[in-house]
Amino acid sequence: MSAGGFEPVSRVLLPDALGRAVRLRGWVLRTRSSGGILFFVLRDRSGTVQVTGRRDVLGDATFDAVEHTQVEGALQVEGTVAEDRRAPGGREVRASAITVVHSGEPFPIFTDQTEEFRLDHRHLVIRSQEHVATFRVKAEFLRACREFFDREEVLEMTPPILSGNAAEGGAEAFQIDYFGRPGYLSQTAQLYLEALLFPHERVYALTPSFRAEKSRTPRHLTEFLNLEVELAWCDLDGLLDFIERMVESVVHAVAERRARELETLGRPPKELLAIRAPFPRLTYAQAIDRLASQGFPVKFGSDLGTAEERALTLESSAPLFVTHYPRELKAFYMLRSETDPRTAEAADLLAPEGYGEMVGASCRETDIGRLQERIRAVGAPVEEYEWYLDLRRHGSVPHAGFGLGVERVLRWMLRREHIRETTPFPRTPSRHTP
Ligand code: 4AD
Ligand code: MG
Repeated sequence: MSAGGFEPVSRVLLPDALGRAVRLRGWVLRTRSSGGILFFVLRDRSGTVQVTGRRDVLGDATFDAVEHTQVEGALQVEGTVAEDRRAPGGREVRASAITVVHSGEPFPIFTDQTEEFRLDHRHLVIRSQEHVATFRVKAEFLRACREFFDREEVLEMTPPILSGNAAEGGAEAFQIDYFGRPGYLSQTAQLYLEALLFPHERVYALTPSFRAEKSRTPRHLTEFLNLEVELAWCDLDGLLDFIERMVESVVHAVAERRARELETLGRPPKELLAIRAPFPRLTYAQAIDRLASQGFPVKFGSDLGTAEERALTLESSAPLFVTHYPRELKAFYMLRSETDPRTAEAADLLAPEGYGEMVGASCRETDIGRLQERIRAVGAPVEEYEWYLDLRRHGSVPHAGFGLGVERVLRWMLRREHIRETTPFPRTPSRHTP
């Protein structure tokens, strides 16, 4: 028995539960009554169970109170586990006593309501089976990431969200009034992780990133979880090895531990267990050739947008690294490639089945002169990056890192049409409530 003598409803289905007395508590999923018998399905975090109650056992007052309890009302039940062939799992609980904790108002959520209505009522909609499955998978995903980092001796850091710099490029930062001075919401923790790398060598942070882009696409949020890693003494091959090891390990852990939820969401776990490192690697130049041969109007220097990324993995069940993008397409801090100075030592990891970019990775420029030159070239104020440039003045060493968009990865893993389904309270250009 758990605290207070209540048990999870899933206990009812265990072999030794038959004939036993149980105390349960939870929320009403659905309810009906006929001929002096109540039938309802009770939900708690462990699952659902059918409960029946007779007027002659419960008494008129209790029977009437339970009969008037709404969907999502809260009840406590005492009863005995009995066999019932029509009930889910072949068991039901025959109630001897019921307490109405909260009878509730009529629950406003039904099937077939408009998407706008459902987003306005997100605080209630997230009780749905689909959302429950989604956020259990998300929690498992984050747990598996942290386990992986523990094994790889990568230390968790807590960089700030509020900053006086706009890190990735001023245009996309949310600006705030910081006591009369400009402040920004973090677009990336990277620059802070780079500072923390010198004393710790292998660091990561799981923080929200904010992007003030009016991108109304099924893969953009204005607030998302960015899982960022920074590794000292690491080159591009080492970085991509790390990323594919991590993705394989985490995806397998989720497939093994959340198989039922994955099935509910339409992703058979065996498809995730088939994800195996190494992942194919294509240079940007090769990707351009491939796209051009498929009829895309692209040449060296073209950015890869949603359609191009989609085409590169649409027929593939494995993730794909695209490496060595032109420097102009990428952030100022990326290391110039030795073999082709037009390109950066950088890679994006594209999700299978056309879902697009889920990781952005690169080696970092270590040379202070080239870094200053790149900051000027992108039109950013060099003074604001003085503290970052200091990192290149005191023991600058080769290092590399990446950011993994948690909701982007889940969108692929859970086969969701829209990224907003992978976060409980999505932030998009048109919505920041509830
Ligand atoms: O590619 P991004 O912009 O890279 C960075 O932020 C680097 N500073 C990371 C680093 O090296 N430490 O973002 C990282 C990932 C992307 O690959 C994508 O998966 C996700 O974050 N992402 C978004 N996810 C949802 N909505 C958006 N608007 C996103 N923008 C990027
Ligand atoms: Mg990117």
